[in-house]
Amino acid sequence: MPITKQTIAIIGAGGNMGSAIAKSIAGGNYRLLLFDRNSEQLGSLHEEILKDHPEADVESMNCPHESSWEADIIILAVPHGAEKGLANKIREVATQKIVISIANPVDVDFSELTTDSDTSAAEELQEWLPNSKVVKAFNTTLEADFEQPVIGGKQVDAFIAGDDENAIQTVTELAKTVGFNPIVAGNLSMSSTLERMQLLLMQLTIKNDYNGLAGWKILHN
Ligand SMILES: NC(=O)c1ccc[n+]([C@@H]2O[C@H](COP(=O)([O-])OP(=O)(O)OC[C@H]3O[C@@H](n4cnc5c(N)ncnc54)[C@H](OP(=O)(O)O)[C@@H]3O)[C@@H](O)[C@H]2O)c1
Repeated sequence: MPITKQTIAIIGAGGNMGSAIAKSIAGGNYRLLLFDRNSEQLGSLHEEILKDHPEADVESMNCPHESSWEADIIILAVPHGAEKGLANKIREVATQKIVISIANPVDVDFSELTTDSDTSAAEELQEWLPNSKVVKAFNTTLEADFEQPVIGGKQVDAFIAGDDENAIQTVTELAKTVGFNPIVAGNLSMSSTLERMQLLLMQLTIKNDYNGLAGWKILHN
């Protein structure tokens, strides 16, 4: 963990994943900037975080541009379909910063991915933010896993992919902070595999009624 506190902006903080991530990061040594279009939802989240972590360094923000401008790390906790528009809004202020792509570009009935087979949501985001360091992370973990990152006695793995070594290291530390076992899967081009893995996990979660709590675990010697 760096001595200087890093600032993390969460765009879409009021959503399922955004709030789950915010609540779990709030216990770590980070400054949190939260943005959501729904100010009521944002206010409740802010209150909830301070109730659980009175010392948390957390601020509610008015726009994604301002949040990203102040941040070292930007988490886009929005559907993939909203990312291009947001990328246009934050491009200049996200230069050289880490942008975490958590998106799984699935269709409405979770039957397939909506991206072309030769790319991924993360690689598309990197195209839209060419001067940022896009890292794929937290797409293989379900929202409920953040509250319970150990399932059946096993710590859930969090897969990470990216092209910048320092950015990967930073996101690895973040994954540890929220309680997961980080596994660096490879370059950003590995994101299509990670997004496909999550499509499978979502399908199995529905089919086998895992009650929203499931995760990946690599067993090894
Ligand atoms: N849920 C999971 O377990 C899970 C697991 C892994 C990855 N993911 C990924 O995480 C992302 C969020 O999923 P979710 O389940 O948290 O969805 P969600 O509960 O619907 O939350 C989405 C959030 O994005 C915001 N948003 C949507 N369009 C926006 C825009 N154009 N500008 C700004 N904010 C916008 C929404 O705000 P409004 O309320 O104002 O619309 C909401 O706060 C998705 O990419 C998903 O694939 C989800």
